[in-house]
Amino acid sequence: MKRNTVKSLLWLLMFFSVPFSYEKSMRERAIKLMQDTRLIDGHNDFVLRLRILYQNRLSRVNLRELNKTHTNLAKLQAGYVGAQFWSVYVLCSAQNKDAVRLTLEQIDIVKRMCNSYEELELVTTSQGISDSRKIACLIGIEGGHSIDSSLATLRMFYDLGARYMTLTHSCNTPWSESSSKGTHNFYPGVIGLTAFGQEVVKEMNRLGMLIDLSHVSYSTAKAALNISKAPVIFSHSSAFSICNHSRNVPDDILRQLKKNKGIIMVTFNADVLACGRKVVNVSTLADHFDHIKKIAGSESIGVGGDYDGVDRFPEGLEDVSKYPSLIEELLRRGWNETELKGVLRENFLRVFREAENVRNVNGLMDVSESEIPQAEVQNSCRLDLHNHWLLTARSFGFPSVAQPFSLMLVILSYLILHYAS
Ligand SMILES: *[C@@H]1O[C@H](CO)[C@@H](O)[C@H](O)[C@H]1NC(C)=O
Ligand SMILES: *[C@@H]1O[C@H](CO)[C@@H](O)[C@H](O)[C@H]1NC(C)=O
Ligand SMILES: *[C@@H]1O[C@H](CO)[C@@H](O)[C@H](O)[C@H]1NC(C)=O
Ligand SMILES: *[C@@H]1O[C@H](CO)[C@@H](O)[C@H](O)[C@H]1NC(C)=O
Ligand SMILES: *[C@@H]1O[C@H](CO)[C@@H](O)[C@H](O)[C@H]1NC(C)=O
Ligand SMILES: [Zn+2]
Repeated sequence: MKRNTVKSLLWLLMFFSVPFSYEKSMRERAIKLMQDTRLIDGHNDFVLRLRILYQNRLSRVNLRELNKTHTNLAKLQAGYVGAQFWSVYVLCSAQNKDAVRLTLEQIDIVKRMCNSYEELELVTTSQGISDSRKIACLIGIEGGHSIDSSLATLRMFYDLGARYMTLTHSCNTPWSESSSKGTHNFYPGVIGLTAFGQEVVKEMNRLGMLIDLSHVSYSTAKAALNISKAPVIFSHSSAFSICNHSRNVPDDILRQLKKNKGIIMVTFNADVLACGRKVVNVSTLADHFDHIKKIAGSESIGVGGDYDGVDRFPEGLEDVSKYPSLIEELLRRGWNETELKGVLRENFLRVFREAENVRNVNGLMDVSESEIPQAEVQNSCRLDLHNHWLLTARSFGFPSVAQPFSLMLVILSYLILHYAS
């Protein structure tokens, strides 16, 4: 009798402890893996929060413990983040207005942020990421409207450290089509990439700047994949077959991405993952990973959380400290450690290195001096300086009537003052 009680107690103990230790070991394996192979995340909108909440006044915030955002330094460390692309996004409503200034201001805040905290370090190369023992900061431009249809502006952003550009955000530019229809009314006639849009892609290849296809339309993605000599990225998108949101990537593009040797950095945005379903959790996210692996292979996958870019995230993935929960779930689903190291870090490094190689091969090519035709921009804020005679005349104060008139007034007052004294 007594023996039986002990026996059943032992059984009970085993029954509860086996799954518990199994769960625990999955968590431990995920953490161990991430300690060795720290995450490179493709997209975080934290610096947009700094503008909205603090008007970019860095001195007013402590980034170590800020709690209003999904991102702070303690949480990045808890999430084993080794490198972060900070998005220098400016709203589409700035297109044809001050998008270039606003983008410069966002680059300024990333630089100040990464230079003033010892936990962070700005890098601009794949080697820089590999060498960094801190959280490596990289800069990504989100939306072609940031360059105001100018290749010279693109090049200067590259010089300032930007290493990817998303060809569109939720608005068409004069040269590229967005996946968001009807959100904005810019350039509704543009389909895919125009001739100038193709020049942008080629110039990005020449510079070694990654081409990001998140947010772009199907035709734009097709055209860019067709032209690009370097692997491309989707910095924050998921699988269209799992949730048919216009932001997601359909299977035929995933197959083309595999051929291109690029990657899709899967996003955690709950709306894009779940298409309005009530329960969104780590299983929902993992379904996207499983599907993309099936279509394009694990070597085509990375992570692009989009924290601080949208409001809703899956249960259990509420902020940047929660990445280990994803890795734990993928381990549980049979992903092996080689595949997961790729997802966490190695796949992106491979793509970035290859884009740098394409730059070196193309290094002797001439800088592109292509310009967008003025008629395609339709922007009265743009000064047209193409007419030589008009320019010369303007520099002498003609043909404006006001300028010679005020010049005469100045001379007249001088003469009066001179002879009156
Ligand atoms: C943020 O939350 C953490 C943990 O709950 C707390 O220790 C810290 O004081 C909070 N910081 C701020 C600035 O509220
Ligand atoms: C891809 O490029 C080829 C040749 O460069 C061209 O003929 C074809 O139309 C392009 N396809 C797309 C979808 O852009
Ligand atoms: C997604 O699927 C739903 C239901 O089948 C359909 O009504 C909707 O139009 C689809 N959306 C897109 C973007 O294809
Ligand atoms: C996620 O939610 C679904 C549906 O409620 C549930 O079946 C699944 O077990 C949940 N996954 C996790 C990891 O909690
Ligand atoms: C992991 O999975 C890949 C297939 O995705 C396979 O090629 C590789 O051999 C596996 N590695 C190990 C250590 O099992
Ligand atoms: Zn976005």
